[in-house]
Amino acid sequence: MSGAVEIFEVGPRDGLQNEARMIPAPEKVALVDCLSRAGFRRIECASFVSPKWVPQMADSGVVLAAITRAPGVSYAALTPNLKGLERAIAAHADEVAIFGSASEGFSRANINASVAESLERFGPVAEAAREAGLPVRGYVSCVVECPYDGTVAPGAVARVVAALRDLGCYEISLGDTIGRGTPEAVDAMLATVLGEIGADRLAGHFHDTAGRALDNVEVSLARGLRVFDAAVGGLGGCPYAPGAAGNVATEAVAERLVALGYETGLDGAVLADAARMAVRMRTG
Ligand code: HMG
Ligand code: MG
Repeated sequence: MSGAVEIFEVGPRDGLQNEARMIPAPEKVALVDCLSRAGFRRIECASFVSPKWVPQMADSGVVLAAITRAPGVSYAALTPNLKGLERAIAAHADEVAIFGSASEGFSRANINASVAESLERFGPVAEAAREAGLPVRGYVSCVVECPYDGTVAPGAVARVVAALRDLGCYEISLGDTIGRGTPEAVDAMLATVLGEIGADRLAGHFHDTAGRALDNVEVSLARGLRVFDAAVGGLGGCPYAPGAAGNVATEAVAERLVALGYETGLDGAVLADAARMAVRMRTG
């Protein structure tokens, strides 16, 4: 195999949103700056959600103001509603993400809305982001399993993917939020979703609770996906997905991709520094 595969670094957001310790902004900034030096093209480092729901991300504006922006790198932020989008614009995020779920139970627990209500809420957010010149990424959570509803049908995933596509998302990230998807289930889900959108507009987002994330990356590669979300040091989880472990570790994905013959464009030594920093933050 050959060609380029991009890792979309989500550690400073998906990772740090779930740490029990309130990590001071300067530590977050140091991690983002190290990741910028490692060669990522996109780094998700902010989340303009309600600080009552996720206090760990309340300082996202401070973080975006203090990082050293590397040329050509897009610093991304989650925006669940118009208020979040306004905050992201004020903080000069380079792109934003709207995030929905394929399952009703997680949608209600995570964003206090049904799937249909969430898609209605995202419409004005996507439109206002477009007017502000910000690219919009979409997330679909619980693409194989939901912590509340159990197994999720591929058709339910495809419907939300199609809705996010129609809202203008330039890329849609498919989240195995609780990290319990088997490669067989991920493959079946992808087969259905690819009926709605090309592999070049999809990303895989695997948490690693059951130790299958790298297998799921390989299944997705075989289906043509070339972007994977990962968190340095395997940071994270989701505060509204009980029992979910962190994202698959960036350094493990990078190592597997290189072993398979793909290029990631990342500097392994700097990435190792970032991973050590992330692990210290987790235990610190
Ligand atoms: P709600 O309580 O229904 O909303 O929450 P609300 O509009 O009634 O607002 C409640 C309070 O929050 C109000 O304040 C609002 O002003 C404030 P009060 O009047 O009570 O003082 N508020 C905000 N403040 C700042 N920024 C905002 C904002 N919005 C409202 N943007 C809401 C609805 C969507 C806001 C809430 O449920 C929420 O913030 N949820 C986010 C949860 C979250 O961040 N989860 C983790 C990210 S998703 C994830 O990790 C999965 C992913 O990684 C993919 C995968 O793994 O599958 C992406
Ligand atoms: Mg996640």
